[in-house]
Amino acid sequence: MIKVAPSILSADFVNLERDIQKVSSADYLHVDVMDGCFVPNITIGVPVVQSIRRCTGMFLDVHLMIDKPLRYIEDFAGAGADLLSIHLEADHPSRIAQALAEMGRCGVKKAVALRPITSASAILPYIEQLDLVLVMTVEPGFGGQAFLESQLETVRQVRAMIEKYNPACELEVDGGISPKTAPAVTAAGANVLVAGSAIYGAEDIPGAIRALRG
Ligand code: DX5
Ligand code: ZN
Repeated sequence: MIKVAPSILSADFVNLERDIQKVSSADYLHVDVMDGCFVPNITIGVPVVQSIRRCTGMFLDVHLMIDKPLRYIEDFAGAGADLLSIHLEADHPSRIAQALAEMGRCGVKKAVALRPITSASAILPYIEQLDLVLVMTVEPGFGGQAFLESQLETVRQVRAMIEKYNPACELEVDGGISPKTAPAVTAAGANVLVAGSAIYGAEDIPGAIRALRG
């Protein structure tokens, strides 16, 4: 079954509670945290995740686009995240491993994310302990960018590794996902689709969520 994770990056932040209710039929709520260092954009931090937790029971999929994420695992877990994804490019491998261990200690689900430049094999040291792998299908930082076809091969390679080493692990894609691009990513092996503009830009939001599920 395909799961849909609306990204609140495309919501109206003044009316965030209203815009979260609009996507309540989806599977996960995708929350993009950006620090202005790992990516050029700055979005939201721990207090906003805390407020989101108070206004919804949805599964909070928190995508950390921040340098040295180990520093903030406990805080985002304490704020109510259900899953944290950290970028493999954001720190040395030893500290990525420590950050994953910290997620285990804090009781949140563990995920790693890959920028388009990162090869699929980078997940191998961690794969057996992961709940989800996030393959970026745009360069992280902004909503509304065009889907990178070239990432379909990475999705296929990650799917093959998941089948071999940890079949329960989910495979999420993020960036430029719409009812038009979704069939190709699901055929390549993705089972969780993040979408910002394709959901919040739609007239009929529940209809857009259904269209993405296929
Ligand atoms: C981009 C973020 C995405 C973003 C996707 O760096 O990680 O989650 O919201 O937006 P769309 O679906 O508009 O490409
Ligand atoms: Zn994201």
